Amino acid sequence: MSTTENSPASPQEPDSSRAAHRGRPLQTEFNDGRDYPRLGSFSFRRGTLTDNQENTWDENWPHLGRVLDENSVTADDQVIDLDDWFGRTGHDTIVEIGSGTGTSTAAMAPLETDHNIVAVEIYRPGLAKLLGSVVRGGITNIRMVKGDGVEVLQRMFAPGSLAGVRVYFPDPWPKARHHKRRIIQTGTLHLIASRLKPGGILHVATDHADYAEWIDELVNVEDDLEYLGWPDDPAVRDETVPVLTDRQIITKFEGKGLDKEHVIREYLWRRR
Ligand SMILES: C[S@@+](CC[C@H](N)C(=O)[O-])C[C@H]1O[C@@H](n2cnc3c(N)ncnc32)[C@H](O)[C@@H]1O
Repeated sequence: MSTTENSPASPQEPDSSRAAHRGRPLQTEFNDGRDYPRLGSFSFRRGTLTDNQENTWDENWPHLGRVLDENSVTADDQVIDLDDWFGRTGHDTIVEIGSGTGTSTAAMAPLETDHNIVAVEIYRPGLAKLLGSVVRGGITNIRMVKGDGVEVLQRMFAPGSLAGVRVYFPDPWPKARHHKRRIIQTGTLHLIASRLKPGGILHVATDHADYAEWIDELVNVEDDLEYLGWPDDPAVRDETVPVLTDRQIITKFEGKGLDKEHVIREYLWRRR
C-alpha cells in the first residue's frame, strides 16, 4: 500500500471531490484469520495533471474508467459487468493491481487483444498517463479503476471471473513496522485466488530482495493456488500458462531497480 513515504503516489481523493482532504480509506473487515494489507490514516492529496491530461480525462474517463465507491452505504453493490464495459462478450479478463504510469500495461495490451485488461491504481496522475497512452494509441482492450486494489478485487470483480491478476513491483514497505502494509499477504493471495477462475494465473514481480524473501515464505500458503515458479526463459511462451507473462517493456519501477543492479524476481501461480 502506498503513502507519500516510499511511493510515487499518495492515494487520491474520489473524483467527485478533487479537493485535498485527510481520511481513512474504506477497508473490508475480512475476519477470516488471514493477513490483509492494513492501511493507516492517509494523507490524500491532489495529483497534478496537465491541462491536456485533464481534458483527456474529462473526455475519456467516463467510458474507460471507474472509481471505487468508498461510501460505506453504497459500496457493497458495484460488481462490474465486464462484457458491458468492454462492449464484447466471451473475452477473458486480466486485472493489474498498481499499474503506476502503465508503461508496460500499454505495451502488453496490443499483444493480447483477445484479453480485457483492467488497470487498478490509486494514483490519479499514473492513470492519467495510461489513459493518454490508451487514447493516443487507439488501444481498445484497456479499462481503468481508481481505488485500493484489495477493495476493488473484493467489491468490483465477481468470484471466479478473472483469467489473470498481475502485481508488478508493488511498494516494498522496507521498514519492518510497515511490512503489514505490503500487498502480498496471506489474505490478498486468498482474495486473488477467489477472483481467478480455475487455470487463472497470478503473476507477481519485485526487484526488492527483502520483499522477495517475504513472498518466498508465502508461495505455498494458499491452497487454491498452485505455485509454478518462473520459467528459465520468460520470453518463451509456456502454452500451459494462458496469459502473457513477458512484460515487453520494462516497467518504470523495474527500470529503477535495474539501475540499482537489483535482481528481478518473478512468481507465477495457477488457480487450482
Ligand atoms: C512501486 S509502484 C510500481 C508501478 C508499476 N507497476 C511499475 O512497475 O512501474 C507501485 C504502484 O502501486 C500503487 N499502489 C500501491 N498500493 C496500491 C493499492 N492498494 N491498490 C492499487 N494500487 C496501489 C502505487 O500508487 C504505485 O503506483
